[in-house]
Amino acid sequence: MKNVFIKNIKGLVQAGEDLPSIVKGEACERISIIENAFLALENGSEVVAYGPMSEWEGIDDWRDLEVIDADGCFVMPAFCDSHTHTVFAKTREEEFVDRIRGLSYEEIALKGGGILNSASKLQLATEDELYDSAKKRIEQMMAVGTGAIEIKSGYGLSVDSELKILRVVKRLKSSMPIAIKSTFLGAHAFPVEFKENHEGYIDLIINEMLPKIAEEGLADYVDVFCERNYFSVDEMTRILIAGKKHGLIPKVHVNQFSSIGGIQAAIDQEALSVDHLEELSDEDVNALKKGNCIATFLPGCSHFLSIPFGDVKRLIKENVPFALASDYNPGSTPCFNLLQIWSLACIKMNLTPQQAFNGLTINGAAAMGLSDSHGKITIGSNSPIILTHEIPSFEYIPYSFGENVIQRVFIKE
Ligand code: NIG
Ligand code: FE
Repeated sequence: MKNVFIKNIKGLVQAGEDLPSIVKGEACERISIIENAFLALENGSEVVAYGPMSEWEGIDDWRDLEVIDADGCFVMPAFCDSHTHTVFAKTREEEFVDRIRGLSYEEIALKGGGILNSASKLQLATEDELYDSAKKRIEQMMAVGTGAIEIKSGYGLSVDSELKILRVVKRLKSSMPIAIKSTFLGAHAFPVEFKENHEGYIDLIINEMLPKIAEEGLADYVDVFCERNYFSVDEMTRILIAGKKHGLIPKVHVNQFSSIGGIQAAIDQEALSVDHLEELSDEDVNALKKGNCIATFLPGCSHFLSIPFGDVKRLIKENVPFALASDYNPGSTPCFNLLQIWSLACIKMNLTPQQAFNGLTINGAAAMGLSDSHGKITIGSNSPIILTHEIPSFEYIPYSFGENVIQRVFIKE
C-alpha cells in the first residue's frame, strides 16, 4: 500500500475534471498546466487529490506516505501508445544494413525479408519465449513513460502462430500493471504458400482464425495492412466485415506507401483509427473530414524508413483528430520510446509541443478506447503518471531530443 504526496510541482500537466476525451483543430494547442502544484496518489497511481499548493489542506495520516519534493519538476499523465507490434521473435538489423547499402524496404520485402522474415522466425519461438521477451520490452516502455499499449499480432500468418501471439498478449494483459489492448492482424502479409492464392488465405483468416480468436476472447480490434503488394481495398473490407461480426472493431494500416482508397473504405466500416497516412490525397482528407475516425501518425516509422512524415498539420486545419504512436516493430520502427516520437513530431511534422503531447495522451487513449481512464490526470484515475527531473519548461521535453527527462513513473500496485 504505497501512498505518495508530491509537492511543489513546477507544472502539473493535463490534470482536471473537465478535460475533453478527444481533441481536434485549435483545441490541440491547449494543455492544462497547474503551476506550483501538489498531487496525492494512493496504491501507486490512484489520484486522490491535486491542485495548487495554496489549496493544499494538509494530510491527516502520514503513515506509509512517501513525500516527494518536485521543485523544478513536471508531473504529467503517461503516454498512450495506440499502435505497436511488441510481440516478435527476433530483431532485423540485417535488413537495416541492407537498406543502408541501397535496397528499399519494399525491395527487401519482395525478396522474402520484412514481415515474412519475422513470421518465419516467430514460427520457431515458443509461447513462453515470446511472452518473456515481450514482457521485457513492455518494462522498458514503461520506464520511459508509456502507460498503455496496443499490441498487434501479424507475425504469425498461420492459424497456430497468430493464436500463439494473441495468447501471449492475453497473458500480458493480465500480468502487466498497465492497460493493454489486443489487435488481430492476420492480414499483415500473404504467406509464401498463399502468394498466388489470396482467396485461400483470406478464407483461412475469415473462417478459421477469426472464429477461434472470438471463441477465446483474444482480440479487441481487427487490422489489415491495406497497400499495394499486400491487401487490396476489397480484401480489407471483407476482412473488416468478418471481424466486426465477431465483435472486433476495425483499426487499420493504410496509406503507408500509396493512397489506394483504404481510408474511405475503413471509415465506411466504422474504423476507430486509420494508421500510417504518410501519403494523403485530397479524397483521403475529405473522407477523414466526414468521419469520426482518428488519424494516427507514426513518425518513428517515417524517420527509420526515410519516407514522408504525413501532413498532420493539414488534418488539424480540417478539424480531424490525430494521434501519435510508436509503431514499435522489428522492421520499420525499432524504437518504442515516445519521448523520441514526441521530438520527431515537433521537429519533422512541425507540431508544437502541446499539439504533439495531446496526440500522445488524450488522443492516443481515444485511439485505444481508453478515454475514460487514460491520457489525463483526474480524481480516481489509476493510470501511470510521469515525474520528470528538474527541467526549465514543458517545451524543453521534446526540444532536448535524446535526453531521458523521466525521473520516475508511478504505476498501480
Ligand atoms: O506498421 N506496414 C506494416 N507493418 C509494420 C511493419 C512490419 C515489418 O516490417 O515488420 C508497420 O510499419
Ligand atoms: Fe504498424
